[in-house]
Amino acid sequence: MFEHYEVFARVGASTDIVRKEMYEFEDRGGRHLALRPEGTGSVVRAFVEHRPTTPWKVWYVAPNFRAEAPQAGRYRQHFQLGVEALGSDDPDLDVEVITLLARFYEALRLTRVRLLLNSLGDRASRPSYLDALRTYFEAHRGSLSKQSLETLEINPLRVLDSKRPEDQEIVAGAPVMVDHLSAEAAQHFERVRAGLERLGVAYELAPRLVRGLDYYTRTTFEFAADALDASQNAAGGGGRYDGLAEQMGGPPTPGIGFGAGIERILAACDAEDAFPVSAAAVDAFVIDVVDGTQALELTHELRAADVRADRAFDGRSMRSQMKQADRAGARLALIVGEQEVADGTVTVRDLESSQQEVVARADVVAHVRKQVEDR
Ligand code: HAM
Repeated sequence: MFEHYEVFARVGASTDIVRKEMYEFEDRGGRHLALRPEGTGSVVRAFVEHRPTTPWKVWYVAPNFRAEAPQAGRYRQHFQLGVEALGSDDPDLDVEVITLLARFYEALRLTRVRLLLNSLGDRASRPSYLDALRTYFEAHRGSLSKQSLETLEINPLRVLDSKRPEDQEIVAGAPVMVDHLSAEAAQHFERVRAGLERLGVAYELAPRLVRGLDYYTRTTFEFAADALDASQNAAGGGGRYDGLAEQMGGPPTPGIGFGAGIERILAACDAEDAFPVSAAAVDAFVIDVVDGTQALELTHELRAADVRADRAFDGRSMRSQMKQADRAGARLALIVGEQEVADGTVTVRDLESSQQEVVARADVVAHVRKQVEDR
């Protein structure tokens, strides 16, 4: 969770994530530390430190911290599932990484997720594009927000990322990177697109897609979950960061990866009803009106058999226990009275239909399990 402050100071000097949202502090040993705002910086720092053989493919699930204004889908602590692959700039690797995430959403049965794809060009493409952007924004200075004017000084690319309403019209007319790609970067992008098409991964070109961190080059992408509120609909994103390892003092090593927000994925799953679950939290409620021994044992056995079971405590009356079963939303009540104990049975009552049957104590767990599974 902690990282050397410098790691992020380098990867995001012009970004809100690092400049405004990073938690940083000095520890007792006088080290300048940050609560990690994202995973890629740390992974590349580890790569530079340990120099593993390439291609180096790693994954992580980890908490990240950003001091944003909290709202639905935007938290000060969020979890990311991420992968990073270092050591190759083969466009097929881009296709592999993007497809992995696309298939992950599919496996979760999310259907309303769109892949947005862009290329931010390479070192050769960048200067002419930045010039074009700067000239364009300078010409529209009067209409830009105060914040965007500040960002413009540091990095004109960042202005494209502005979500402020007053900037929208100007941003919509801004020059796009794909018109300024070097021949090499254009060819790389072409090959990524062709690979995605071959594998049947649908995408939309998003020429104004910029990401919230500075290290990106060439392929960049985001998955927009349409089931979520538009301002927080990025369920994951990533791209190439070919200069990052070198920038951190390592050998020149290309890399690509993604980070996908677990909370947003879960919210999208909920919004799309991807995992239908019964509203009731309890399948079977054990009602023991003798001495609680059966409640103790039977609840335990049912849970061991993956049946969601609960019971009452404190030797309540039959009436009171039935009420509790009802409140718990249980579908079955397993009733144990003097008669059942004497006969070695349990009365199983369906609380919806009120039908009941007497089942041998020895068979009751298997019986209930079957009823729960058949539903
Ligand atoms: P990111 O786009 O800043 O990229 O974050 C990745 C994902 O984390 C987002 O698409 C979103 O799902 C989730 N996320 C970000 N901030 C929040 C938040 N405040 N609350 C909830 N979820 C959030 C990165 O962090 C890059 N490291 C991704 C990457 C990996 N690029 C290359 N490799």
